[in-house]
Parts: sequence; structure tokens; C-alpha cells
Amino acid sequence: MNSTDVYDPLSHESHEDPYPAYARLRDEFPLYFIEAHGVWALSRYQDVREALRDWETFSSAQGVEIGEYVQFFGEGSIQELDPPSHDVLRKVLAPRFQSRRIKEYGPLIRATAEHLIDGFAGRSRIDLGQEFTQRLPILTIFQLLGIPQDDYDWATSAGLEMLRRPAGEAGPSAAAAALREELVGYFVDQVNRRRVDGPTDDLFSDMALGIDAGAMKESEIQGLTLLLIAAGMETTSSLMGNIAHAVATEAVAAEDLLDGTGAFRAPAIEEFLRFDAPGQWLARVTTRPVTMHGHDLPTGSRVLVLFASANRDPREYERADELVLDREGARNLAFGEGVHFCLGMPLARMETRIGMAALLARYPSFRLEGEPVRYPSHVIRGFESIPVTLS
Ligand code: HEM
Repeated sequence: MNSTDVYDPLSHESHEDPYPAYARLRDEFPLYFIEAHGVWALSRYQDVREALRDWETFSSAQGVEIGEYVQFFGEGSIQELDPPSHDVLRKVLAPRFQSRRIKEYGPLIRATAEHLIDGFAGRSRIDLGQEFTQRLPILTIFQLLGIPQDDYDWATSAGLEMLRRPAGEAGPSAAAAALREELVGYFVDQVNRRRVDGPTDDLFSDMALGIDAGAMKESEIQGLTLLLIAAGMETTSSLMGNIAHAVATEAVAAEDLLDGTGAFRAPAIEEFLRFDAPGQWLARVTTRPVTMHGHDLPTGSRVLVLFASANRDPREYERADELVLDREGARNLAFGEGVHFCLGMPLARMETRIGMAALLARYPSFRLEGEPVRYPSHVIRGFESIPVTLS
């Protein structure tokens, strides 16, 4: 059997619908060599979970992307560090991301959501992606970081342009690299201002305090802020966009998503995360020889862990390819597993709960009106444009 073209994470086909390829990988090639990129792919739930748990064998320290995208964020990206240096840096951020602290942002997120919804009141045609599902998470991460409001428009377009990783492209564009430098210069300035003027109540201040306490280096501001920008701008917006798209195409009804009090049902959020993981995969590099599924991988092999495929593994989930809103059972791997488990999980869940409940309370139904546009990324699966008619 020809196994050379089952799956390519950079292809247009994968961008459109990777799930048929994932199914084939799980059934026929559970550890698959992607020749075009010289990397391996793990696709079954148990294998993905085990690899994520075993950071000593499957290291993040050589970057979690492929090709020319490897280590694009640079020094300080905790996602691309192994313990113990990873743990030191994670502690700088962790207090603000605890559930208790995150809850304090609830009223601000609700007010931001209502403000965005007020913004399209009276219009019947809007772009839910541009005007809501992408916008709310972006404004939220900007507020958490401490970006001044006057800079929101610039930071939004610079961030989104820098993060573009469209299908078919082997590496970041020159424009993306230039914007990265511009953003990093700005972030370093924001952190250093707080070191001089005194901390305020935001993530830039947490970093300023971290540097002054010797827990992080100034040079690590780069990777840490870029990772937070990416995590904050791309992921929750995909989750919310995937839910909005499902409502707009009548795959689900608002009343199935909300409980009797109008609150968004928590299990429904988990099921959307399982069904269409916002982050489809990330890479690891082996630190010793590994034998799996009949293949001998030498030290230094780059292995993609396909979260999204693991979440559709029928070995773990009944009716794995169906959206079952009240599903129980194995925890999905959309937020990862192990030492790099998503720090932003409480924030992402809360934003989605508050944002989507606010939207559906005002607009219980809306219909797709034109072609939605997928987010331009080979890793992130969601929509940047969802044109709808509101009713
Ligand atoms: C639905 C939304 C989200 C999803 C699906 C998601 C997914 C993930 C995944 C899979 C990882 C593990 C990466 C790895 O193993 O290499 C991760 C890590 C991380 N996430 Fe999220 N994320 C989401 C939202 C957020 C938000 C809103 C933030 C904060 C603004 C955030 C911050 C982080 C950070 C800082 C890490 C790195 C943790 C570490 O390396 O120790 N995430 N996320």
C-alpha cells in the first residue's frame, strides 16, 4: 500500500478537512512518517497521551512546530522549554491564570461581549467571526496583558498578520518576521515601563516582577509574550467560531447549548473541543531511541502529536465522529496533557461560556449567509469569517 501521501499537515486538503486522513492514520499507520517534512505523526488517543506525559523522551525544547516555523517565537516561549527551566517560567504566569483569579475577569468579559453585541444591534447581516468570535478573545488577552486601549487596533492587525500560517506555505513570510520584531520591541517596552514606574495589575507587570525577582530574563519577554498573544488570539476564537458555525448551519440549536437559566452548558464546550480541537497538533523531538508500532525512531526524531485525531479515536469514544453534546467519558486532549497542560484553560472555558451565552441570549438563531472562511493556519482549526443573517 502506498503510504506516502496519507497525511500532510501543511496541505490544503488537511486545512479543509483533516479527519478522513486522521482516521486512516489511526487504523493503518498509527506511527506515520511524513516524507515531505521528515517528521513522524502519532494519531491514536493512548499514544498521544503517553507521549505528552513523557516529556523526558518527547521533548519540547527543540520547538513544537515543523520546517521553518520551528522556534519562530524565540527565547522564553514556555511551550518550547522542558523542565526545570519550563517550570520556573510557568510560575511567573501561573498565579494570574488560576481559576479563582480568572473569575475576577468575568464581569469585564461579560461587559466586553455585551458591548460587541450592541455594536451590531440593528443590522441583520454581520460577520460573526470578525465582529464577535475572534474579537472577544483578542480584547480579553489584551486586557489581561495590559496593552493600552489606544494600541488595540494596531496590536490586533499586527498580531493576526504575524500569526498567519496558511496551508501550502513552508515558513513565516518576511512580513510576519518583521511584525514579530515590531511586536517584541513594543512588549519589551511595556514590561520595562512597569519596572520603572511600578507594577499595575496585568501580565506585563507579572513579567516585570518576575525579572526583578530573578525568575525570568529580559530576553525571555519575547517568547513569553508572543506565545500569550498566539494562545489568546487564536485558540478560544476557534472554539467560539466552531460553535457559532454549528449554530449558523443548524448542526445544533441554541436551546441545546443553554440550560434553563440561560447559562451555556459546560459539557457542550468540552464536546466542541473534542470534536474539532482548536489546536490540531504540536511537535516533540525524541531524546532517546524509541520503538513504536514496529518502527525504530532514532534520537532526534520530530514527532507530531495529533491532539485532534486522538479526540476522534473510536478506541476511546463511541460515535467518535458525531457531536454528542452531553457526552461523558474520557477527557479530551484539546488542552494537552502533562507539564505543558494549557495554562489558559479556565480562561478559555469562561470566555466561551460567557460570550456564547450572551450572544445566544440576544440572537438565539442566525443563519450562514455566504461562504465562511477558515482561519489561515496549518495548526489552528477555526473560522476567521462567518457571515450570517441575524434573526
Ligand atoms: C480553547 C482554547 C485553548 C486551547 C484549545 C488551548 C490548547 C493548548 C494546548 C494543547 C496546550 C499544550 C501545548 C503543548 O503541549 O505543547 C496549551 C498550552 C498553553 N496554553 Fe492554551 N489553549 C487554549 C486557550 C488558551 C488561552 C486563552 C491562553 C492564555 C491566554 C492559553 C495559554 C497557554 C499557555 C501559556 C500554554 C503553555 C503552557 C506550558 O507550556 O506550560 N491557552 N494550550
